[in-house]
This record gives sequence, C-alpha cells and structure tokens, in this order.
Amino acid sequence: MLLPVVLAGGSGSRLWPLSRELMPKQFLTLHGDKSLLQSSLIRLSGISTAKPLVICNEEHRFIAAEQIRQLNLLDKNIILEPSSRNTAPAITIAALYAMQRGEDPTLLVLAADHVFSNVSAFKQAIHTAKPLAENGLLVTFGIKPSTPETGYGYIKQGKILNDCVNAYLVKQFIEKPSIEQAKQLLLDSDVCWNSGLFMFKASTFLNELAIYRPDILLHCQNAVAQTLADMDFIRINKELFINCPAESIDYAVMEHTQSAVVVPIESEWSDIGSWSALWELGEKDTLGNVQYGEVLQHNSHNNYVYSESGLVATIGLENTIVIQTNDAVLVANKDHVQQVKEIVQTIKEQG
Ligand code: GDD
Ligand code: MG
Repeated sequence: MLLPVVLAGGSGSRLWPLSRELMPKQFLTLHGDKSLLQSSLIRLSGISTAKPLVICNEEHRFIAAEQIRQLNLLDKNIILEPSSRNTAPAITIAALYAMQRGEDPTLLVLAADHVFSNVSAFKQAIHTAKPLAENGLLVTFGIKPSTPETGYGYIKQGKILNDCVNAYLVKQFIEKPSIEQAKQLLLDSDVCWNSGLFMFKASTFLNELAIYRPDILLHCQNAVAQTLADMDFIRINKELFINCPAESIDYAVMEHTQSAVVVPIESEWSDIGSWSALWELGEKDTLGNVQYGEVLQHNSHNNYVYSESGLVATIGLENTIVIQTNDAVLVANKDHVQQVKEIVQTIKEQG
C-alpha cells in the first residue's frame, strides 16, 4: 500500500505578515484558489487509494480538519503534534503509527507547501519510485537547480540504477550548504536540489533512524505508544514527545544513509519559501509587477504588492515587496526576503 504522509507542521515565517503562528503558510491560499495544503492533497489524486495522513501542530487542528473535510478526505487521519520537533520526528511518528496498525506501508512523504508546474511529471516520478521504495531503498526526488539557493538540500547523483529506470544512486546529500558551497555545487551537472519529497517503506525508514538517530526513535516510540484517538484526530502524548530532539530528516538520516536513490522530477517547482518565490510564480503585468487587492503602481517595476484592505500605491518603486495586512506592513527589497525570518524572531523576542 502507498500511504501519503503530508507534513503540515511548519511555521512559514518567511511569509510574514500573511503567514502567522495561528495561520502558517500551508493553510493560506497563496497560489491558485486552494490553500497550499489542499493543492498538495489534490495533486495526489490517482496516486493512491489510501486517505493521506496529515501531521500538523495541535494548534492548527481545526483549520487542517476543515480544509481536509472540504476535499472529502477527512477520515481520522490527522496526527497532532503537541510541539514542533521538525520533520524527522514527524515522519517517525507517522511511520510508527502505520506500523502500530499492523501495516508496513510504503510512505510517500510530502511537504504541504509545494507547487509543481507539471503535475504529470510529478506523478511519473512517483510511479518510477514506487518499486524502488518497495525494495528497501530511500527514494528522494531531484529538481534541476537554477540558482545557488542555500535553503535547500543538494544531491550529488551517482551511477544510474539500471538502464531501464530513471533513477540514480545518491553519492552525497548536502543539506543547506553555505553560499560558497552552493555556487560550487551548481557547477556540477550531476547535482540536483532535493525537492523535500521522500518515499520509503515505514520499516526501512525506522531501521535507518535506529542506526543514525536512535534517540529520536526512542522518544517517538514512547510517545506513539501513548497515542489517543479523539474525534478526527490522533493525539501524540505531550510529555513524552516534547523532549524529543528537534531535527530534520535531511540532517538526521539523508546526509548519512547508504541506501538513497534519486528520481528526477522534470518539472518547474517551488516550495514558496519566500515572497520573491511568490513574485516568480505570480502573473506579471508588462512592467513585471505582481499585485493583489487594491493596488496602484506608478512608474514602478518588478514589485510584489499585496493589499489586504484599502489602497496601496507605489511611485518609482523597483524590485520591492510590499505586504499590507490589517495589523502589519512589510516593505522589503526583493533580494533580501530571506531575512523576514529574522524580523519574525525579533518580534517574538520583544513579546
Ligand atoms: N508535522 C510537521 N512537524 N511538519 C513540519 C515540521 C514539524 O515539526 N517542520 C516542518 N514541517 C513541514 C513543513 O510545513 C513543510 O511542509 C515540510 O515539513 C518541510 O519543512 P521546511 O521547514 O519547509 O523544510 P525546508 O524547506 O527548510 O527544507 C526541506 O525542504 C526543501 C525543499 O523545500 C529539506 O528537505 C530540503 O532538503 C529541501 O530542499
Ligand atoms: Mg520549505
């Protein structure tokens, strides 16, 4: 059985002030007419007959449940984390929960914030990956890189697995390199970005985790043993989970494993990681502006301007992000949008 596991517990802080603690980006409608979570679920149609498991923070349970219900996919399939411990514990919880039900499904782990321009290429890659994962490999999905992004994982491809399958051994997995390293990696034609999708059998992942991070496995095993079913939700034990080390799957397993392969996805892709990514994806007018709401731009180029209420006007503005919401305004140079995270941190510290 192929069981989709959708990770929906991120904070999306680089999309402040639209993305907030109570409403992080995966639940927002930022591209198209559905939320990013809903688009991720819709993209799975025809891939698996199993209802996906969605794993998110308990604070967002009602938003998640409502969005999943709207797609007729609600089926006691939302796992609630009492606190965010990053993706390695989240995936471990999903894998253990599936094993507890007496299954050893092949997990298709997906982020809740991705956009693919070519959905059939996405589906083709999943089709290619399935038998590999069923045979005990950890499958990653590679995207052709275009810029020296430091927020992604990079995969150095090795030999082709066999001549009939579009899959390669993973020579090296480098999570979030420095800018110098990223520039160097881009020069290598056998390097791709890690898309953040993974496929493996639940038991394969748990066995690898037992080798590289037995501490995470132990905490999660204890927490899942005390799981409570509550309406549409599966609640993980708070006291036992809260002390689990926070780590991403990339650092915990993917950088170390000897059993990874990469299947390329021949599609444009974005993880909507920043306002400039939304500008890239958005429909531009002849001056390169993307705008939403009541916006008037005069002699202005290549901006992303969003107004939640009231008129926002710009004059002689270039390469700028302007986000106006009811209680906050962000004005940022498009080349510095990664630093929005730092503003959010400062706001948190100031209480
Ligand atoms: N349930 C749960 N719990 N989900 C989480 C948690 C958590 O604690 N933390 C993050 N997520 C979800 C996010 O909502 C997102 O859908 C996904 O997991 C990936 O997390 P990010 O925090 O967005 O990761 P990243 O973008 O820094 O890096 C990952 O994705 C890149 C591609 O988008 C890595 O896998 C990189 O290697 C990869 O290139
Ligand atoms: Mg991300």
